[in-house]
Amino acid sequence: MKKSLVILCMAAVVAIAASMAILGAAPANPQNGVGATADVNPKGCTDCHVKGGDGDSGLGATIKKAFPKHPSVKEDINNCYICHAKRGDMGKLMHRGHLGEGNDFVKTYGGSCTHCHKVDPKGGMVSVKGVKK
Ligand code: HEC
Ligand code: HEC
Ligand code: HEC
Repeated sequence: MKKSLVILCMAAVVAIAASMAILGAAPANPQNGVGATADVNPKGCTDCHVKGGDGDSGLGATIKKAFPKHPSVKEDINNCYICHAKRGDMGKLMHRGHLGEGNDFVKTYGGSCTHCHKVDPKGGMVSVKGVKK
């Protein structure tokens, strides 16, 4: 094999390994936490919205980027309810912001309801992960 071809092949292997590592890190299980499948993001919001690093994807940074005029927020969904409980719009806003066609939540993470919602099979109730009630 030519030297350049060997390098090309090695680059391809590295690229595949890198993309597999990214996919492995993404909580893409469509049956996330339902039945016998393990819950890959038990904390909900803050398992994906991680603060800090190069591409800060914390709740604060995400809100600031998407809605620059929004008041500053803490890295905790319970903080949202200080204002959004009365408005009663958290579900509407979260569904709109994540579940649309082409949204990265769907494309990269598989977009399942149980990334945010927790289903209690015993009582049958559905709640939102991380929300203290
Ligand atoms: C499985 C990963 C994941 C989980 C869990 C998650 N998000 Fe997101 N979120 C994303 C991704 C990816 C985007 C970027 C969507 C896009 O713009 O393509 C996003 C976008 C957002 C946005 C901007 C939305 C908009 O309207 O533009 C907000 C605010 C947000 N998330 C808050 C939350 C909150 C609060 C929770 C918990 C109730 C949550 N997210 C749970 C991955 C996640
Ligand atoms: C201090 C009060 C306050 C807190 C805390 C707060 N919000 Fe809001 N948020 C608002 C208000 C007020 C609006 C409506 C703005 C408007 O209608 O122009 C809003 C609007 C939004 C919108 C829609 C923005 C748009 O322009 O469409 C999203 C998404 C949102 N909030 C997410 C969150 C999340 C997620 C949290 C918690 C991490 C949070 N908010 C915490 C007050 C707050
Ligand atoms: C990004 C996080 C997120 C995802 C994904 C998500 N939800 Fe929600 N959902 C919420 C939040 C937050 C609430 C508000 C709960 C509250 O305030 O009590 C909510 C509320 C609801 C409600 C109560 C009505 C309402 O709108 O407040 C229903 C029903 C619901 N979700 C169904 C679904 C279904 C079905 C899916 C999947 C197709 C889904 N949700 C995906 C975060 C999410």
